[in-house]
Amino acid sequence: MKRYLLIIIIIFGISSIVLSNQQSVIDRSVFKNPQRSSALFNHDDHNEKAELEDCAICHHVYEDKKLVEGESSEDDSCSSCHTLKRTEKNIISIRTAFHKRCKRCHFKVSKGPVLCGECHIK
Ligand code: HEC
Ligand code: HEC
Ligand code: HEC
Ligand code: HEC
Repeated sequence: MKRYLLIIIIIFGISSIVLSNQQSVIDRSVFKNPQRSSALFNHDDHNEKAELEDCAICHHVYEDKKLVEGESSEDDSCSSCHTLKRTEKNIISIRTAFHKRCKRCHFKVSKGPVLCGECHIK
């Protein structure tokens, strides 16, 4: 009996590690009625493989519409600044913010997905 219990616990442990590894960190709750499946993005894995060491490549800081060099904003979600609809204060909607940031780099370096279905997999 004890052996079975141990095996079950081990299987549970492994599968929860696997699951948490696959989890996307992107909070998409701003999209009230999402049209697409959530996009693939495995934060640490992605950044390691793509060799992105500067957090501000994605987590940037702006002041008076000017990019602040050497500072990063990883404690703020993108949607805390980029709202669902573009406004006068922020001309980049949250959807455009993600697409611009992600796709533009993939295009530039010819690596990583650029087609809708490659990120929003069913
Ligand atoms: C490089 C990856 C990537 C590609 C390629 C991409 N997207 Fe996205 N998309 C994202 C991310 C990241 C988000 C924001 C997080 C989320 O929704 O999971 C997003 C959000 C969205 C949203 C808003 C949320 C929703 O589901 O309503 C729509 C609509 C969307 N994408 C459509 C598209 C379409 C259409 C294409 C192809 C023309 C496309 N995307 C290509 C990464 C991508
Ligand atoms: C390729 C773009 C990219 C790079 C580079 C990047 N991040 Fe992120 N990070 C994201 C995205 C996208 C989110 C999700 C933001 C959201 O939900 O609004 C995120 C979320 C986070 C979060 C909050 C979510 C969580 O895991 O609790 C932290 C903390 C974070 N990143 C830290 C970092 C640090 C530290 C670095 C640099 C070592 C870094 N990031 C580099 C794109 C990136
Ligand atoms: C502290 C507020 C803030 C946070 C957090 C923030 N942004 Fe921005 N972002 C801005 C402002 C302000 C602009 C400039 C918009 C303008 O020109 O009016 C901008 C511009 C952009 C642009 C267009 C210019 C460029 O750099 O290519 C993209 C793409 C973008 N943001 C993506 C993101 C993503 C993705 C995240 C989350 C990982 C994020 N932003 C987090 C404030 C923020
Ligand atoms: C500054 C460049 C850059 C940015 C910004 C960037 N990526 Fe990537 N991405 C890469 C590179 C390079 C690869 C290929 C890595 C490799 O060698 O496997 C990649 C690969 C991927 C892959 C394939 C699977 C994987 O994890 O390797 C996905 C999915 C992906 N990116 C999603 C995203 C999303 C979503 C964003 C925006 C939140 C994003 N990327 C932003 C450079 C970038």
